[in-house]
Amino acid sequence: MESIQNDNQTIKNIGNILNDSSRPLKERFRALFTLRNIGGEESVRCIEDCFTDTSVLLKHECAYCLGQMQDPLAVPKLESILANVKEDAIVRHEAAEALAAIGQKTSLDILQKYTKDPCVEVSQTCELAVKKMQEGNSNSTTSENPYKSIDPANPLPIHSYKSIDELESILLDESQPLYTRYQAMFSLRNISTDTSAIALAKGLKGGSALFRHEVAYVLGQMQNPSTVKQLSSVLFDEKEHEMVRHECAEALGSIATEECMEVLGRYVKDERCVVRESCEVALDMCDYENNAEFQYADALAKATS
Ligand SMILES: [Fe+2]
Ligand SMILES: [Fe+2]
Repeated sequence: MESIQNDNQTIKNIGNILNDSSRPLKERFRALFTLRNIGGEESVRCIEDCFTDTSVLLKHECAYCLGQMQDPLAVPKLESILANVKEDAIVRHEAAEALAAIGQKTSLDILQKYTKDPCVEVSQTCELAVKKMQEGNSNSTTSENPYKSIDPANPLPIHSYKSIDELESILLDESQPLYTRYQAMFSLRNISTDTSAIALAKGLKGGSALFRHEVAYVLGQMQNPSTVKQLSSVLFDEKEHEMVRHECAEALGSIATEECMEVLGRYVKDERCVVRESCEVALDMCDYENNAEFQYADALAKATS
């Protein structure tokens, strides 16, 4: 009994770090990932408390983590975020995606409703979410995913394509449904070679900002240094949607080569808040990748000291 209370107290302490706006963003992000790894009701509640924060970047990451935790307890909060049209589109998008990741059938109505949202990033996310929920997570597709994430689309069935070139042409074909292009994206990611990463990076020039941001996210998962040039050139493009630039910054943070750090250092003062905060967090990710520091223990040590 006592140990359960102590655990809850430890989680609350980590939650206090997450919800303390006077702390550096990188510490709050580490606290968030620690809570995601611990899971359970108390962690979910601490993450939900963070939706009153002013940082769009932090709030969208909270929604992302709640989705990856797949805890149905988070559904009411995520639905309210999606329904709040005053909330930033990046946060609403991530809430919709998280609802699909959790996969409660009761969320279908609200997801269907916002397929008509005036914001295209939100409406497209909801369309994908409805499709994904109808399809479900097939066991064979999750076992093909070496990254263990819950994705917004299942990869294409392995026997439905013959080559990386074929997947690349589906990825880039704007006459195909967005869901099918996402499927090609996740198939290319799961192949996980230099050639498939380079094919994927061509999607950074695709027609929808939502699509481009997902390509950047997936390249971050792959951590393949052969895509640093392509990711950097999107971060450099100040006309690009901030959602895409943000995801390129974080992908560079995961790849974490010296070149990545140099590029991120240049944009840590970008005039777009989401971009500069992403660069700040991404530089911390580089530190983490390069020092192999055990972030769980790190945040836990801070929370208990
Ligand atoms: Fe996203
Ligand atoms: Fe993101």
